[in-house]
Amino acid sequence: MPEGFRLFPQQASSIAPRVDALYFYLIIVSVFFTLLIGFSILYFAIKYRRRSESELPHGVEGSMKLEIAWSVIPLVIAMSFFFWGASIFFAINRPPNDAIEVSVVGKQWMWKFQHADGQREINELHVPLGRPVKLTMASEDVIHSFYVPAFRVKRDVLPGRVATTWFEATKTGRYHLFCAEYCGTKHSGMIGWLEVMDPVAFQAWLAGGAGSESLASAGSKLFAQHACNTCHRPDSLARGPNLEGLFGKPVTLQDGRTVVADESYIRESIVTPNAKLVAGFQPIMPTFQGLIAEEGLLQLVAYVKSLSKMVPSPGGIVPPVQESAPQREAPR
Ligand code: CUA
Repeated sequence: MPEGFRLFPQQASSIAPRVDALYFYLIIVSVFFTLLIGFSILYFAIKYRRRSESELPHGVEGSMKLEIAWSVIPLVIAMSFFFWGASIFFAINRPPNDAIEVSVVGKQWMWKFQHADGQREINELHVPLGRPVKLTMASEDVIHSFYVPAFRVKRDVLPGRVATTWFEATKTGRYHLFCAEYCGTKHSGMIGWLEVMDPVAFQAWLAGGAGSESLASAGSKLFAQHACNTCHRPDSLARGPNLEGLFGKPVTLQDGRTVVADESYIRESIVTPNAKLVAGFQPIMPTFQGLIAEEGLLQLVAYVKSLSKMVPSPGGIVPPVQESAPQREAPR
């Protein structure tokens, strides 16, 4: 991608022009008021300078009109920042439901990716053009920050939590991926590429991947391997909450609070089961801290999510639907 000097990275995602528009608006307002105030100081300093040694200033009366004007006008301007910024904030924090899911693990010092179909990548992520992509991210060690300047996407990835973000690429090409949080000696080497391919080429790329299993199906194996299904079952022998249809729903806790069963909640409930105990259950679940790697935790999260995409079965927890590669290929 040879290119000349650029003041701004290219705009390669659907959110990029919106972020830039707000940024330019902030710059224009700031420059306007800097100049207005600067020139006013100069102008008044000259106009009202002391002309003779004996000159005395005369008293100034307050003016209600002025007071109101210089309170209300800045309020309106400041609120315009707020509402414009909030609308972009919500857009960034609400991934569309039809987004392709990719799990991301940051560790000293690399980015590990796994697609929903199971393909793994390191320091490189292939995504299709014109489709929303949702990243579910966790850290194995310290705080990292996932940053793609051309997409105007940056999200801190903290140990012990699941962070999510999303983007929709609008231009094919290779874009720099950075870690934007100092994370140790080789922080500056924790970089990579995000490759945006046209959907047909992306399908071909996916199909050419080594035949690994999907995230959800790897999660379902872990679920059986750790015998989670002996307690988390839909019938009367259940000693833990039924996980079918759980994802994204509100959960009432023992202490009366209500939380939404999102990625972070599910991960936390595996690692520290008693942190948010579900109403009606005993604190008998052991912790899986240290027993399941961060990647495995994200696979389990993907498995629990997959349980909400199908009808509950009366017979027990059924294996997740094998999510095939997204079939939509006509570029929008
Ligand atoms: Cu990871 Cu800096």
